[in-house]
Amino acid sequence: MTPTIIVVGSLNMDLVVRAPRHPQPGETLIGSDFQTFPGGKGANQAVAAARLGARVRMIGRVGVDAFGETLLAAAQHDGVDTTFVQRDPDAPTGVALITLDAQGQNTIVVAPGANMRVSEADVERAEAIFAGADALLMPLECPLTAVMAATRLARKHGVKVILNPAPAQPLPIDLLAQLDYLVPNQPELQTLAEGETDVAKATEYVRRQGVKSVVVTQGEAGAMLVSDDHTTQVPAFHVPVVDTVAAGDAFVAAFCVALAEGKTPLEAVRWGNAAGALTVTRSGAQPSLPSRMEVVRLLEVQSGNNAPLH
Ligand code: RIB
Repeated sequence: MTPTIIVVGSLNMDLVVRAPRHPQPGETLIGSDFQTFPGGKGANQAVAAARLGARVRMIGRVGVDAFGETLLAAAQHDGVDTTFVQRDPDAPTGVALITLDAQGQNTIVVAPGANMRVSEADVERAEAIFAGADALLMPLECPLTAVMAATRLARKHGVKVILNPAPAQPLPIDLLAQLDYLVPNQPELQTLAEGETDVAKATEYVRRQGVKSVVVTQGEAGAMLVSDDHTTQVPAFHVPVVDTVAAGDAFVAAFCVALAEGKTPLEAVRWGNAAGALTVTRSGAQPSLPSRMEVVRLLEVQSGNNAPLH
């Protein structure tokens, strides 16, 4: 069965420069290889889910400018339905300024532009697409009011809600209590748990606020799945790292697609790890996102099983 996933989130043009290392405050470094890539956590998650075989519908905003045009075309090229991505005449398309160091680790500053004008009304206008959808997937580069409106509609229509709380910010209990899965990285989890640095304690803290299950992404250490009946550490795939941008987006999208297809949460975390690993081996946000066949092959190699692709 082909699952239907709704993504409410950002679209950014990524302006990327490589440098030997990240600069100190006040320091100027000479970098190399300036490139632009379609990005934005929302669009990356939408495109990743589409490449993994889901039917994807996105809600968001871009400006009436060349970046907006390019980002819409990129998402549509991968089959994402952008009917509910509006062109906003009063704000520019979002831009992300990204520095990559020699190890492929990134720092990102986002100028959100039109992304921050996604409104509750934009989401409510799209209510029809919630009926019959399997999952709602959201990062946090749009206003919280839009995220909360989408969560309400998802609950009303029986749609699973998966939140990737990136960039990190404290969240209201009203939102946390309505999530099926929260998928933070460690710094994001720490922010949600009022600074608690111990992962187990921080996870329990957010679960006490009503989140049903938490998946903490931990880079090279893999991911930890915590729900009522178990805590499971799932190891990462070891791959050469070229560029870490969008690895978290690939993880959460693959996790969401696998769950929406009826796989177990543990299998879904393995899908997330595989998609994240493939993404770091290539440059750019959307160009690095893997196909379903690549993810299936990597999972088969890991399990030493030559079963046919599915
Ligand atoms: O998660 C990676 C993304 O974060 C980049 O594509 C950038 O646009 C920022 O939104």
